[in-house]
Amino acid sequence: MIPTVARITGTGRGLPSRIFTNDDFASIGIETSDEWIMERTGIHERRIGSETETTCWMAAAAARGAMAKAGVTAGEIDTIILSTATPDRLLPATAVDLQAELGATRAAAFDVSAACSGWLYAITIAEGMIASGAIDTALVVGAEKMSAIIDWTDRSTCVLFGDGAGAVIVQRNKAGEKAGILSTFMRSDGCLANLLYRPDGGAAHPMTKEIVENRTHLVKMAGREVFKHAVREMSEAADRALDSAKLRSADIDLLIPHQANTRIIEATAKHASIPMSKVYVNVDRFGNTSSASIPIALDEVIEKKIVGPGSTVMMVAFGAGFTWASAIIRL
Ligand code: UT7
Repeated sequence: MIPTVARITGTGRGLPSRIFTNDDFASIGIETSDEWIMERTGIHERRIGSETETTCWMAAAAARGAMAKAGVTAGEIDTIILSTATPDRLLPATAVDLQAELGATRAAAFDVSAACSGWLYAITIAEGMIASGAIDTALVVGAEKMSAIIDWTDRSTCVLFGDGAGAVIVQRNKAGEKAGILSTFMRSDGCLANLLYRPDGGAAHPMTKEIVENRTHLVKMAGREVFKHAVREMSEAADRALDSAKLRSADIDLLIPHQANTRIIEATAKHASIPMSKVYVNVDRFGNTSSASIPIALDEVIEKKIVGPGSTVMMVAFGAGFTWASAIIRL
């Protein structure tokens, strides 16, 4: 058995209260249907944050849940790593707003920007910091207010995304502990950046009236191309996670894929030879919440007792960048 240095000791999620169903798009003048969205994506509804349900607000709700389950107080957190593509402000990082909100007075805090793969990148960083001896306890959050950056007039993207946050506490293992992070894998390809991106509004092209009028500060996506890469790279990420953990598909009790689209999820599971009965899907209720999707799902499966102590869980993600990543954990 591979020795591990760190394990997840608590999970939590934070979701806005408003449910926006596929039928609700008619009320904002979007020509679509529940049938089209369900058939192409498996999404039935998603949560949409109010003005006060910010990225930090959702992150704090998720963090408090994870801290309570881990029995960790704010003062015991050494580092907060917050993955987001939708920071509340461009400066400073949303992680420091979260640090202040929680009163985590001993914690370093920083954001990770790796889109939908970001939370897997973040737990990899947390594990590395624990392995180096720098820290003992990390709060790792994926929090996204996708509703703030999507183009609500573009039916090919606005139906796909939702808001939410998930969080975990990652802690140093005690000697002989069986639970832990068994393997991680991260990769990227920036040559493909323009297939899924926000063209303007950053430092290269700061916001202007024209940008706002042309809506080029909002998410643009070449859906079909992204789909092909998502299937290919999530499959690679699954293979790599299994190889480095020295495990076979049959050793995996549950696969939690990034929740973007049921067709991508099914293709990834098929490639990894994992039956759909061992794959968790909640994209129907939350849509694509980018880097929040895996930690939200992880909290749900533990709460529902689909997995528990001793279970082996594989997580795989793909997103803008492109970035892709995976991890296998034993609970
Ligand atoms: O987090 C990772 C990032 N994102 C993803 O993983 C998304 C990856 N891509 C996808 O999931 C799929 O490409 C989509 C679900 C986005 C689109 O499905 P598709 O089968 O690739 O459809 P399409 O974009 O090729 O569009 C097919 C048709 C078009 O009409 P025509 O040109 O064939 O007449 C679209 O105009 O569907 C139309 N369409 C819609 N119709 C009803 C596009 N969006 C909608 C809509 N409702 N919301």
